[in-house]
Amino acid sequence: MTSDIDRLKQDNARFLFHPMAHPAAMRKTRPDIIARGEGCWIWDVDGHKMIDGVAGLWSSNLGHSNRKVRDAIVAQLDELPFFNTFRGTTHPRAIELSARIVELMAPDGVGAVLFGNGGSDAVEGALKIARQYWKLKGQSERSKFISLKQGYHGVHFGGMSVNGLANIRRAYEPLMPGCFHVDTPWLYHNAYSQDPEELGRICAGLLEREIQFQGADTVAAFIAEPIQGSGGVIVPPANYWPLVREVCDRHDVLLIADEVVTGFGRSGAWFGTRLWGVKADIWCLAKGISSGYVPLGATAMSMKVCDAFISDAGSLGTVAHGYTYSGHPVAAAAALATLDELEAHDVVGNAARVGMYFQQRLAEFERKFALVGNVRGQGLMAGIEMVADKARRIPVPRSSDIPPRVAREAYQRGAMVRISGPNMILSPPLVITRAEVDHLVDVLDASFAAVNATV
Ligand SMILES: Cc1ncc(COP(=O)(O)O)c(C=O)c1O
Repeated sequence: MTSDIDRLKQDNARFLFHPMAHPAAMRKTRPDIIARGEGCWIWDVDGHKMIDGVAGLWSSNLGHSNRKVRDAIVAQLDELPFFNTFRGTTHPRAIELSARIVELMAPDGVGAVLFGNGGSDAVEGALKIARQYWKLKGQSERSKFISLKQGYHGVHFGGMSVNGLANIRRAYEPLMPGCFHVDTPWLYHNAYSQDPEELGRICAGLLEREIQFQGADTVAAFIAEPIQGSGGVIVPPANYWPLVREVCDRHDVLLIADEVVTGFGRSGAWFGTRLWGVKADIWCLAKGISSGYVPLGATAMSMKVCDAFISDAGSLGTVAHGYTYSGHPVAAAAALATLDELEAHDVVGNAARVGMYFQQRLAEFERKFALVGNVRGQGLMAGIEMVADKARRIPVPRSSDIPPRVAREAYQRGAMVRISGPNMILSPPLVITRAEVDHLVDVLDASFAAVNATV
């Protein structure tokens, strides 16, 4: 007799296309069906318990069973499950959340927000707002975007066009014209320098040269993640973002910070731009904004950008962009409760403190395992790059079975992790304790040791 669990596994293979996966491969692979979560722990449908090393997907920053967020969601469902925010219509939670984010980001110079349903929406909003800004300023030729190789900005056509990850662009090309990519300041893999400061200067210079090559009066914005997440957790040198800000100012190019991963504490600072002491012009927010409880995204705009819209006397300033569920009341309620919890329990401080310990422990892997070429990260985000040749820094090929084998070992030993190409990417909930970090790192240590012994 087919059990309910077997049925789930069979139906998964037959009926569900998974993001970033080949449907044929999914038919051959037994899925990991996560059925329950509590704090930093999850259980699969077979009852196997693991520490959540990925916070759902960089999202469940408060862990999985936060009572306050749950209660806010339930109360909102009782009060008003849905209404739209188009034109003059709105509802209390969307207004309260917009005011709360503007207040939280007042030190960054934020003036208003535009809601969407996730990170890709936040990026799409940012790109469209940037183009519209320049039209409002009478410079409609400024339509191009520059971004970083290895960058990830979601999957809508705009975001995909500024993405710097070739493997996820190919199937959907041709993408949006007018998007150009420059080298990312990646210390471990670059052709320029092993000195971080010099590399930061060189890469900021590459951006400037691209702006000049394109013609500054044709460039709308530069978009980048304060720390590149999906590209392999690439932390830029400390001077890079301040220099990028200067380059953008010199050429009047808008700076869009894609904080979908780094926003709301992931790096140990409230926002990744704060880590670098830089104010952007537009910010993309999602994931941690509602701690993953309900989908939500937001595009935050500086006063400068807001003013261009507000002072427009014609119809050009109409925001002809938005979704049925922009600022969904249940999502907004979850976000308001999330912000309460982040503040009440100094969760961002925890991410900084425990994050430091997490990074120290992971750093040992570089010395310990021939398989591990580079460990990098900041706060509670980390990337572990696996190599075929450590001396020459050659990563294992994308087709290698080594990274999935390490992940499988970890799963069996009690830790959920994520693999992207040669990288293991870690992003546990921001409420994780030192003891839980020890569990996660001990499991990974044993898992790398097991696979390292076979290669
Ligand atoms: C930096 C960044 N931007 C945008 C996105 C897209 O967000 P979503 O998957 O919620 O659409 C992601 C998702 O991981 C991301 O990491």
